[in-house]
Amino acid sequence: MKEAVIRRKAQPLTKPFSGKHRIVVTCGKGIRPFLKQEILSLGFPALAESVAGIETEGTFEDTLRLNLYVRTGQRILFLLRDFQATNAEELYNQVFKIEWEEYLSSADYLCVTSSVDNPTIRDTRYANVKCKDAIVDRLRNKLGRRPDSGPQRTGAVVDLYWRGTSCLLYLDTSGEPLSHRGYRKIPLKAPMQETLAAAVLLAANWRGEGNFINPMCGSGTLAIEGALIAAHRPPGLLRPNFGFMHIQGFDQALWQDLLSQADREAMIKIQGKIIATDISAQAVQGARKNAAAAGLKNRIEFRVCDYDETPVPGGDGIVILNPEYGERMGTIEKLIPIYQGIGDFFKKKCPGYRGFVFTGNLDLAKKIGLKAARKIPFFNSNIECLLLEYDLYPGRRNQEKRAAISNQQSAKTFG
Ligand SMILES: C[S@@+](CC[C@H](N)C(=O)[O-])C[C@H]1O[C@@H](n2cnc3c(N)ncnc32)[C@H](O)[C@@H]1O
Repeated sequence: MKEAVIRRKAQPLTKPFSGKHRIVVTCGKGIRPFLKQEILSLGFPALAESVAGIETEGTFEDTLRLNLYVRTGQRILFLLRDFQATNAEELYNQVFKIEWEEYLSSADYLCVTSSVDNPTIRDTRYANVKCKDAIVDRLRNKLGRRPDSGPQRTGAVVDLYWRGTSCLLYLDTSGEPLSHRGYRKIPLKAPMQETLAAAVLLAANWRGEGNFINPMCGSGTLAIEGALIAAHRPPGLLRPNFGFMHIQGFDQALWQDLLSQADREAMIKIQGKIIATDISAQAVQGARKNAAAAGLKNRIEFRVCDYDETPVPGGDGIVILNPEYGERMGTIEKLIPIYQGIGDFFKKKCPGYRGFVFTGNLDLAKKIGLKAARKIPFFNSNIECLLLEYDLYPGRRNQEKRAAISNQQSAKTFG
């Protein structure tokens, strides 16, 4: 990742955090087009793209806004320094030179993450330790005490990206990845990552108009992300902790203002109905708890039932299913009738809606027996998946009714 970032010419940075810095927003494989839409609609430029993210620019304060609002990104990385290092000793010396005492507290917890491809480094953990040592040695020299450090991302997080001799050192202002929204108390079986669910919904053009029907809801991720979008609630509202909160000079008052503004903009009432069902009572119980943790109590109607018994109110909206797609033959055979039934369910119960199926098995998807209007590629972990869209035109009787109404109307207009 970040190749595009490496190729750009190094720019000197002023400190501490005055003016605009380069910011990289990382994302999962396949999500970048949706992340780009989000970055642009939040008013940030998309300066460069790589497989795993979008490069933009902004102030440190802008990272607070990005962490609060971005639905599909994983981490907001704020570039602190770029420099050259040919080996681990040079890396240590360069990192030691940085005025860490202005950015970090020796009382906080520090985590260093890295991605390294340098010919002198055989074990990337070595580079990681060298980078961490340089930071804590500097802090001990300047402040008389070194911070505790380790793999938890609960305090300050520094990220090293080293390719050849080029080093980019970022503050990971997210800390825990943004997919950890904080609402998933009960994960259950094969849950979809929250950022992936949000990207799937943006790909489905879900903006909160009409009804949102989610049979096979599992832990409720799609329904919860759908409800958050419909309620205009940014995903970061739910999280008590971010990496930026552990950087010296973090503006607590500004963060409170951003939260209050987001709260004011959130809608009290969602326009359509949001209905989520699953055949497993345990899944529905978990999804209900997750929705309550997301501040969506009573906003989603849950029910335990087979997917084809899901109530679909008249009107329009989207119906979205994420059925299991199994990898072993035995499992796949058992799934065939479920996929066949989805086609019937769409045709019989969902006319007027847009239907979506998210699956990692194209052969099973063919059993749905309807022609997909769109196939949007995604990855779930490393499995290639597709979001299939079906236009579910109203049935013939409805079409005839509509044609009759429109004939009457044209007769009135031209008569
Ligand atoms: C892949 S999981 C969905 C995961 C979900 N997207 C999430 O983020 O947690 C598939 C779900 O389909 C449910 N399921 C399987 N067969 C079903 C059926 N016939 N009717 C309704 N739900 C079914 C399972 O209980 C499981 O929760």
